[in-house]
Amino acid sequence: MKLLAQRCSAPLRGEMTPPGDKSISHRSLIFGCLASGETRVEGLLESEDVGATAAACRQLGMGMREEDGGLVLTGVGEKGLSAPRSALDMGNSGTAMRLLAGVLAAQPFDTTLVGDESLSQRPMNRIVKPLRLMGADITTEEGGKPPLRIGGVAGLNGIDYDSPVASAQVKSCLLLAGLYASGRTRVREPLKSRDHTEKMLPAFGVPLVGECEVAGGSRLVGTRLRVPADISSAAFFLVAAALVPGSDLLVRNVGINETRDGIVHVLHDMGADLVLENPRESGGEKVADLRIRYAGRLRATEIDEQRVPSLIDELPVILALAATCEGTTRLRGAAELRVKESDRLAVMARGLQTLGVELEEYDDGMDVTGGAIAGGTVDGAGDHRCAMSFCVLGQVASGPVLVDGCHNINTSYPSFVKDLKQAGGNIQT
Ligand code: S3P
Repeated sequence: MKLLAQRCSAPLRGEMTPPGDKSISHRSLIFGCLASGETRVEGLLESEDVGATAAACRQLGMGMREEDGGLVLTGVGEKGLSAPRSALDMGNSGTAMRLLAGVLAAQPFDTTLVGDESLSQRPMNRIVKPLRLMGADITTEEGGKPPLRIGGVAGLNGIDYDSPVASAQVKSCLLLAGLYASGRTRVREPLKSRDHTEKMLPAFGVPLVGECEVAGGSRLVGTRLRVPADISSAAFFLVAAALVPGSDLLVRNVGINETRDGIVHVLHDMGADLVLENPRESGGEKVADLRIRYAGRLRATEIDEQRVPSLIDELPVILALAATCEGTTRLRGAAELRVKESDRLAVMARGLQTLGVELEEYDDGMDVTGGAIAGGTVDGAGDHRCAMSFCVLGQVASGPVLVDGCHNINTSYPSFVKDLKQAGGNIQT
């Protein structure tokens, strides 16, 4: 699927609410599935990725119904999962595959987890190795690639694990497996990744022992959850409004968890006029309305390894913004971008260069020098976040920007085109 993005002739104005947070949505379904009793969820993201998790949970026995504008999940209890009759298809979603693998590695039955072409190339050894240390029986394709074939086991042992990568998917996978293991399971990581799992477990009645440690045999009890809007989806609108002269946009109900708010700091560093209005707490997560007003041409900044986990998914659109800034933005410590839904450093570098942007690509980052954006045909490479980033940059390009490979926008933000048009953006299918 292609999208045509063109220079926006009028400012972006008004209010919008992005869809529900993808990370929190996956977790709501998985925890709701494992809990005893009902869990009511409001604001769940309806997208292909979350749909894959929902379908898998239903195959494992979870009930799901719509009620009064929310969703009611009927959990099966940790021990109540049924063996699925066929392989579970995780689609494009690394989160679905890695988190569910943690649960399934502890079951007495066999399962197979498969994914699409992109997911089938993504590294799974980061979870397979520690799960094997816990006693799991998992095989992969060569090089640790999916499908994951998980053999049934009688039990797992807790571990104290030092993860070599700062990854919330690894951390959450092991904490989920740890709920079934003997003793305690503790995960340490080099830099703190998003902590939605740690925040949500207590809502299901499972206290964390330490900062990131669970006791085996803990029981989950159904609860009520409210999913805030996804800051990773909000990011496209924050950047669009920062780019288009005269814009004044209110992006409502956005989750601003401190392990996810790196883009707010980057926008401030770049000189954007971004104000967090009405900060509040909702369902255990911090939320605010983000008002962004166009503030002229922004300035380049530096993003080092320390900040990467808090804005990992926003880096494609930050690189797009950097392509318009005064000076050279330097990003380092972001090698993880190479193993996302695409090699995001390579995909962004190729597309930005096509649009006339001066840049240098490094193994773990990029130097991007801001300037004028030309029109051209770029490839989103089936990566939702890269595709949406190019669409946003097209709003200030001197010629039309045709973005190829946009089909996977549906994995995280099915209403992206509609929402961008409604805010005043220039985009056509
Ligand atoms: C996610 C964690 C991050 C992020 C992904 C969602 C999660 O991945 O990029 O989009 O929900 O746990 P890693 O854990 O691989 O860093």
